Amino acid sequence: MRILKKATDLRKALPRKKSIAFVPTMGALHAGHMALIKAAADSHDLVVASIFVNPTQFNERSDLQKYPRTPKEDAALLKAHGCDFLYLPDVADVYPDGMKKNAAKNIDFGPLTATMEGANRPGHFDGVAQVVSRLLEIVEPDTLVLGQKDYQQVAVIRAMIQRLDLLVRVLVVPTVREFDGLAMSSRNKLLNTDERAAAAMINRQLAAVVAGLAAGWPTQPLEQMALSALGEHDLLDPEYVQIFDGDTLLPYLDGDNVRELVVATAVRCGDVRLIDNRIVDLPNP
Ligand code: PAF
Repeated sequence: MRILKKATDLRKALPRKKSIAFVPTMGALHAGHMALIKAAADSHDLVVASIFVNPTQFNERSDLQKYPRTPKEDAALLKAHGCDFLYLPDVADVYPDGMKKNAAKNIDFGPLTATMEGANRPGHFDGVAQVVSRLLEIVEPDTLVLGQKDYQQVAVIRAMIQRLDLLVRVLVVPTVREFDGLAMSSRNKLLNTDERAAAAMINRQLAAVVAGLAAGWPTQPLEQMALSALGEHDLLDPEYVQIFDGDTLLPYLDGDNVRELVVATAVRCGDVRLIDNRIVDLPNP
């Protein structure tokens, strides 16, 4: 695996006649990221990954500062799982004209960013769209590989790709979970033992909502029940539990005809903010 710190070097090094899958990350890699690398390697000639903790998508400075950084371990994991190129830039290489210049800045994502993460983290998705559009400009992959855990992020990036007319496919890989169902996340490393044990409840409550929907229960009481159950735990502070249409991200109203029904949540566990979602498998939602 070659590690390159400069966009110009990476562009020179990439053979253009091979199919390229790109896995953007912020590092602190785990088995969830490795599932993305595997999906990329299984379907393409070359895998490019990036590790860049993007300052423009953090709305709390303390969150940016404490974001885990483990570049040596990350590089070893990527190499062991078949990644061919790692782009490991600094801020100046990603944003040579400054962080304010943003190819994606005039995009109005409308309802896609009005709820959930968009409502709770103002400006977050503008930063995500900014960095992903810039990384796509650098790597020019055939396929962008993203994780289902960030469901809203995937929807925003798809919209950004469409609005900017970029020629890239999106491959979404299902969430990988710990033994107790907690979604794998770089942020899990920041949880202490008690918080880590409490965090398992997030998936259990999402599973309860999915089971309720499958049994035909109405949406709002299910959201409320999960919210209250999470809120009753001393170490958990839920921000939202939302059942929504996976295409529009608008709240699901009982009886709506949707292609994909999703339940998502964000929960503060100590100082750590965790998100998770589940797609509801209904023959006739
Ligand atoms: O999901 C992430 O890790 C980040 O939001 C991404 C897509 C790498 C952009 O910084």
